[in-house]
Amino acid sequence: MCGIVAYTGHNQAYDFLIKGLQRLEYRGYDSAGIALLNGELNVYKQKGKVQDLIEEASGKNTKGTTGMGHTRWATHGEPNQVNAHPHLSQSGDIAVIHNGIIENFATLKEALIKNGHSFKSDTDTEVLIHLIEDIQKHEKVDLFEAVRLALNEVIGAYAIVIISKNDPGTIIGARKGSPLVIGIGEDKKEYFMASDATPIVEYTRDVIYLDDNEIAQVKNNELTIKTIHNVEKTPYIHKLEVTLDAIEKGGYEHFMLKEIFEQPKSIYDSMRGRFHPTDLTFAMRSLREYESKIKNLKRIVIVGCGTSWHAGLVAEYIIEDFARLPVEVEYASEFRYRDPIINEDDLVIAISQSGETADTLAALELAKEKGATIYGICNVVGSSIPRLTDAGAYTHAGPEIGVASTKAFTAQVTVLILIALGIADIRGKMTKDRLRHAFAELDALPEKVKQVLESCEAKVIEVAKRYKDVDHFLYLGRGVNFPVALEGALKLKEISYIHAEGYPAAEMKHGPIALIDENMPVVVIAPNRGYYEKVFSNIQEVKARKGNIISIVTEGDEKVSAISDYTIEIPDTEDYLVPILATIPLQLLSYHIAVMRGCNVDQPRNLAKSVTVE
Ligand code: G6P
Repeated sequence: MCGIVAYTGHNQAYDFLIKGLQRLEYRGYDSAGIALLNGELNVYKQKGKVQDLIEEASGKNTKGTTGMGHTRWATHGEPNQVNAHPHLSQSGDIAVIHNGIIENFATLKEALIKNGHSFKSDTDTEVLIHLIEDIQKHEKVDLFEAVRLALNEVIGAYAIVIISKNDPGTIIGARKGSPLVIGIGEDKKEYFMASDATPIVEYTRDVIYLDDNEIAQVKNNELTIKTIHNVEKTPYIHKLEVTLDAIEKGGYEHFMLKEIFEQPKSIYDSMRGRFHPTDLTFAMRSLREYESKIKNLKRIVIVGCGTSWHAGLVAEYIIEDFARLPVEVEYASEFRYRDPIINEDDLVIAISQSGETADTLAALELAKEKGATIYGICNVVGSSIPRLTDAGAYTHAGPEIGVASTKAFTAQVTVLILIALGIADIRGKMTKDRLRHAFAELDALPEKVKQVLESCEAKVIEVAKRYKDVDHFLYLGRGVNFPVALEGALKLKEISYIHAEGYPAAEMKHGPIALIDENMPVVVIAPNRGYYEKVFSNIQEVKARKGNIISIVTEGDEKVSAISDYTIEIPDTEDYLVPILATIPLQLLSYHIAVMRGCNVDQPRNLAKSVTVE
């Protein structure tokens, strides 16, 4: 939520800032703004997208070798030009950009108003920059110290960057709860700051991930990091592995489509080197190191939000089936506020593409406090969740830019299947034959994913054309495919704004069946495994009420296909791998419907990708 980017060095900052904001636009696109230092402090901002900002700044003075930019997902205050960042201090000399929430802003604002401050916007961020200036004036300290003192008064979450007219060649950044990465340019002649590494990777591979409660200052090409408690820190420099092509569209019309088509590779990368099919062993460090813990586990609790929560639901079926261990899956936002019963012999797994989702992070902190072992399944390397957890596994799906999650979901499910198999093996619930078979099936999976992508798109487009103008969709699945129905429905509503609901197929008769008529498309995941006959009966119940059936079936299927209006085939595979194959046509269906409806598929309205507010 909200993207921030900053630069100081020997080059003009404007182009870097604009390109950086475009790369971070997935984090919010309610408004965008920049501030540049060149003797003066010039601020340009506009409601809407970075493109609107470019138009706003066109023909104006955009010179400056120090500057910063912000793309906003609104929390406090309507998404208009006044509330757009950067915000200025009372004198107008200091500017701030902010990702997060200052929870005690109302109290701070009241005190500042009494001290003679007046505010232009409704934002919490403006209060922060007024506070910093107030402290600097009254305590007679430099800006770095004023920021440090102010952050000691603030309750909430933030990643901020500050520049001041009186401190040319200086950027100050700080974080607590929201991410901030610092890039170090060649010969330390330029420095970058950003919410993630995507704006930076083109310029340097040397980055520092700021920790919570740390403040960094770059002043005349000299970097200093200290905590808000005034302890100096020695920065640890990471080497970025992400490549520039991975964050560009590569010839696809949208990131979402590119990411859907990347799935054979992202799934392969997520399991590569993690198991040995010949000697039937696992090479996942987290499984090896926690072997005795896993043997004594009483329960697994999985937390996540959105699509990641759906991956958790898929895992519940698979882990319970393989490892015979109870699994509970909870929305992180519910878990964190209900004093959950967590014991030391519980394993709490957080699933998160970004590794930054505020609710998931807070749920994990709570589980840690209660003594559970905490495990993270994340995609963004170096993000907050992997840094907090005892152990974990990255999904290796590569950067996911489209706001609606696609390849991250299938990579999460892939990693969770490996974990389920590994836990079952450690706990003696897996025969060698079953494991051998599972490894062979996993080996064949990327090729099957490729086959789905190659074979189903034409049919999906046909279905999309037929139903693009309906108001409602229903998605049904049973067992491990019930979460697939939820994910299919979520994808459609997120990007096409069609109301869609996912339901366990048998539950349909307890409510949604009342909605079925000749206008209602019902997508049913009906592979030849598990509950095939039961799902077939559910389909008949829909048909009897004139509903339209779009079925996802195993290739060669005749029975369900005969009563479906449209049939999309996937290759035959094991039960637990169907969620991966069946999800792909559903991703494509929502993509094509959204494109046909003229929606912005990569940046759907009101959504953001990295939800760093609760
Ligand atoms: C947002 C995104 C979803 C994502 C969810 C959880 O709502 O739009 O696509 O599934 O956050 O994000 P996470 O990064 O924790 O997986």
